Amino acid sequence: MPSRKNRKNAANPRIAHGTQSVAASCARHCSTRLRSPATAEEYSAGALCSALLVRAAMRILVTGGCGFIGSNFIRYILQHYKPAFVTNVDVLTYAGNLANLNGVVEEHGERYEFFKADIANADQMDALMTEHRFYAVINFAAESHVDRSINDPLNFIHTNVIGTSVLLDCARRHGVQRFIQISTDEVYGSLGPTGKFAEQSPLDPSSPYSASKASADLLVLASYKTYSQEVLVTRCSNNYGPYQFPEKLIPLMIIKALRDEPLPVYGDGTNVRDWIHVSDHCAAIVAALFEGKPGQIYNFGGESETANIDLVKVILDILGKPHSLISFVPDRLGHDRRYAIDSSFAQRELNWKPRRNFKEGLEETIQWYVDNPSWWQPLLERAGRY
Ligand SMILES: NC(=O)c1ccc[n+]([C@@H]2O[C@H](COP(=O)([O-])OP(=O)(O)OC[C@H]3O[C@@H](n4cnc5c(N)ncnc54)[C@H](O)[C@@H]3O)[C@@H](O)[C@H]2O)c1
Repeated sequence: MPSRKNRKNAANPRIAHGTQSVAASCARHCSTRLRSPATAEEYSAGALCSALLVRAAMRILVTGGCGFIGSNFIRYILQHYKPAFVTNVDVLTYAGNLANLNGVVEEHGERYEFFKADIANADQMDALMTEHRFYAVINFAAESHVDRSINDPLNFIHTNVIGTSVLLDCARRHGVQRFIQISTDEVYGSLGPTGKFAEQSPLDPSSPYSASKASADLLVLASYKTYSQEVLVTRCSNNYGPYQFPEKLIPLMIIKALRDEPLPVYGDGTNVRDWIHVSDHCAAIVAALFEGKPGQIYNFGGESETANIDLVKVILDILGKPHSLISFVPDRLGHDRRYAIDSSFAQRELNWKPRRNFKEGLEETIQWYVDNPSWWQPLLERAGRY
């Protein structure tokens, strides 16, 4: 068994704490049970059911599972795929939040465990993979906020590039069968008014964040060519749903509106994003995990392109707040104009498609933030100037 005691890494002063089981402390944190996140469509679990059931009980390593998508994914896979055991590794940056998994220990018991560790720390990753024989690693861990990457890119290199490389190498040495790299459509850069990104579109990242994610993607794909490592890269459009850190557009706008504060909109607000409900993304990742082909890239999108200004107005309308709360602010440096993703390949190959209607999903998400101020209020301090 690997050490669950603290292991200091002198080479990496950023992380002085080692792997430690915090199941007990997690249980302490889990006294409040939040409403379940929006459940993903039963169809996808059902469609995958036969494929999933043939596989014996397996353990999956989820990194960054205390963040927005990772925590939704852990709930999703534990709920929909009963034999799965999940180990969550997260270093708990400002964006990592144990409360995102409130209730999971009570509901799933030993099927879930948590280690506080840095994916860029090879000793810690090695210890984990010595303790468990993982079927798959699903790498959500990342610095994920573009604005922060513009001000301080080095953290992004540390986690998104070095962390991915360490994890990939460790997974290979320990015989992990599958490595899923959770990436983003932002690696493709910006589109004009027409067209969509396909898997073959050239990488053209605009920010340190997207450049670090593109770098990680290349490392992952190269390990397929070099070592025949069973890797997959998934590139998804903008996610929304419960448990998203309040610096991101949708929760930021909801919370500002609830507090009757100005809603800051970059530039003229005409930048376009494609929105996907996080439960649709989780279903897509499960499909890629079990049905995806090694060395392949899969694009996932929500087929819900919306200009930021229109989205903000809809949020205000749903909350019954005036549009006069909108405050245009100087544009983000290197701000991509439009993202749109062609996910037809993934839909065909993985028998998946996004099911959630954006308007309904948005209403449900807004209601979640209205119902859960005790979740987001403590995060406003961490969010700092956002
Ligand atoms: N949010 C989106 O719209 C979106 C869209 C497409 C792709 N993605 C990708 O999905 C993944 C998850 O995004 P998210 O929005 O949930 O991010 P998030 O910022 O909410 O969560 C990231 C998590 O990673 C953890 N983490 C950071 N550095 C770490 C390290 N060195 N070791 C271990 N854990 C570490 C953080 O503590 C946090 O819990 C990211 O890789 C991101 O690039 C996000």
